[in-house]
Amino acid sequence: MEISIRRQQPRHLKPHPENESALGFGDIYTDHIFKMDHFDGSWRNPRIEPFGPLILSPAAMVLHYSQTIFEGLKCYRHPDGRLALFRPRENFKRFNSSAARMAIPLLDEEFALRALKELLKIDGGWTPSLPGSSLYIRPSIIATEEHLGVRPAREYLFFIMLGPVGPYYPEGFAPVRIYVEDSYSRAAPGGLGNVKAGASYASSLLATEMASRKGYTQLLWLDSVSHKFVEEVGSMNMFFVIDETVLTAPLTGTILPGITRASVLTVARDLGLKAEERALSIDEVLEAQKNGRLKECFGSGTAAVISPVGRLCYRDEVFQIGDGGIGEITRKLYDELVGIQYGLIPDERGWVEILD
Ligand code: COI
Repeated sequence: MEISIRRQQPRHLKPHPENESALGFGDIYTDHIFKMDHFDGSWRNPRIEPFGPLILSPAAMVLHYSQTIFEGLKCYRHPDGRLALFRPRENFKRFNSSAARMAIPLLDEEFALRALKELLKIDGGWTPSLPGSSLYIRPSIIATEEHLGVRPAREYLFFIMLGPVGPYYPEGFAPVRIYVEDSYSRAAPGGLGNVKAGASYASSLLATEMASRKGYTQLLWLDSVSHKFVEEVGSMNMFFVIDETVLTAPLTGTILPGITRASVLTVARDLGLKAEERALSIDEVLEAQKNGRLKECFGSGTAAVISPVGRLCYRDEVFQIGDGGIGEITRKLYDELVGIQYGLIPDERGWVEILD
């Protein structure tokens, strides 16, 4: 399919951020957007056009029944100036499994990646070069059909937008504080926990806001059935280092299958560390903390990269992890992963895709 291109008028092009070290997350967008419609049973009209507001009917089904999915990946600038994507096919694969779960028509994954690369040919120059910053890529699909009956929509919009970002958390790579949530739930078995659906994020807002008022950056969700087993944070998967073993919860359907999570497991094993996916109760984690066996704790995600956790709060008791600083294994995994993404370390696994 031919992608049509309508460029922004030069006088309307936005200035790029001047101070890359002041970049936050998710506030600035580039000049162009990729869009494609789905109607009459197929995806049509792929196009790149100036970034701007969407025109939607107030009856658009996404506004009522939240039939929407998204992805998050990044474009990195290497020291030689070239641009690189990290495992982008994994994102479009996960996008399609989210689509299947949300009764949204599937995309041709190769075409979606080609569309992204075309968009980056136009707006890739927005990719910052400061280490730790990148161009965040947000593909999304929304149900646009004007209809109020509850059923899958018959019309959709797929779009990809881009924006330069710095650290996701204001703390940067400094340790964050996490509140263990034991009454609200994020995802139930058979629900939306393993797909990137807007609805799962909406359901997390109230409890996260309550924790934030107590001074915590994020929530650690426990399983929704027994409220015993650690799951994920919402913006990150969670890892615990107990003794010398790197542990994370298994993908049983209520946890997002993070691409950074999978990469951390591979890198950890390649570095000679023991890494396991297994059910881990909050009691086991806190018992290990009390015995001095819980050495480190960190989260992983595209936006958050690897984020050390300095403190956990559970039922109003605060537990410091290690010395509250950045653990040795956390730093090693961060350096290795970020090194590969930013082209500072050779990519031996074929994870990096250099753009021409
Ligand atoms: C990401 O890591 O890209 C995410 O999607 C997490 C969050 C920003 C929603």
